[in-house]
Amino acid sequence: MNGTIFLRTSVIAFVLSMGFGAYMGGTHDFTYAPVHGHLNLIGGVLMFLAGLFYNSHPNLSPKLILAHYCIALLGLLLIIPGIYGSIAVMPWAAPVVGLGSVVTIVSALVFAFMVYKGTGKAKA
Ligand code: HEM
Repeated sequence: MNGTIFLRTSVIAFVLSMGFGAYMGGTHDFTYAPVHGHLNLIGGVLMFLAGLFYNSHPNLSPKLILAHYCIALLGLLLIIPGIYGSIAVMPWAAPVVGLGSVVTIVSALVFAFMVYKGTGKAKA
């Protein structure tokens, strides 16, 4: 496991979210703009950065990269529908967006750990 799976997931998120952005522009309905913004930034930008980082740090454990990917994907798959449901005032949305937020923060902590591990001790 290296960063390629992050890169491939990221571009899917970008394509879906940009399509949704074009739909919003076409219909002049921006109600769900935060869904578009979060899918682009958490799914697109953060995942692409993680993919680039892992592919430029081959010293990192493939198992830990896979663990990070699973946590990041789970968080994304919860937080995006959760944000949608929150805006649409769906009864199921609060626990979904809450859990998605926690899992996404855990994913960010794992990424922070990996960046420190991959970059090693700072040189004077
Ligand atoms: C084809 C490409 C894209 C289209 C057509 C598009 C379209 C839009 C539209 C129509 C809005 C709503 C503006 C409003 O509320 O007045 C929006 C908001 C936003 N977009 Fe995009 N966008 C695109 C790409 C991107 C990308 C690549 C990113 C980030 C990497 C991004 C991040 C955001 C953010 C953060 C918001 C604000 C969301 C919010 O109000 O909560 N967009 N976009």
